[in-house]
Amino acid sequence: MPISMNGFSLQEELPTYSKSQLALRNGQDRPEIWIAYRGYIYDVSKSRLWLRGMHYEHWAGQDLTEELIDAPHTDDVFLRFDVVGTLQ
Ligand code: HEM
Repeated sequence: MPISMNGFSLQEELPTYSKSQLALRNGQDRPEIWIAYRGYIYDVSKSRLWLRGMHYEHWAGQDLTEELIDAPHTDDVFLRFDVVGTLQ
């Protein structure tokens, strides 16, 4: 299960995106800023901490599951954000 299911009631309603589709949402090429974590893609576009896709030397538009270990916070930070899809 994702950290939050805002906007979607059933997992099967979630669209699936490839790594290259995710990479386009890195905060540089398009207005959307997305990050993948444990198979789900979160939209962090509204976050002031992910401006232009950059967050403490981490870039959006990719799977950051492994990198969360380096963070001073847990995955509770995803609660505020909408799940927009699953990562292929
Ligand atoms: C050295 C690595 C990192 C540092 C120093 C860092 C630092 C922070 C700080 C200080 C905050 C705000 C306070 C808080 O919510 O606890 C935050 C929020 C957040 N972080 Fe990180 N972080 C790091 C890595 C990551 C990684 C790898 C991810 C994704 C897997 C991530 C995702 C987030 C998200 C989604 C928020 C919430 C933003 C918001 O509420 O606007 N962080 N981070």
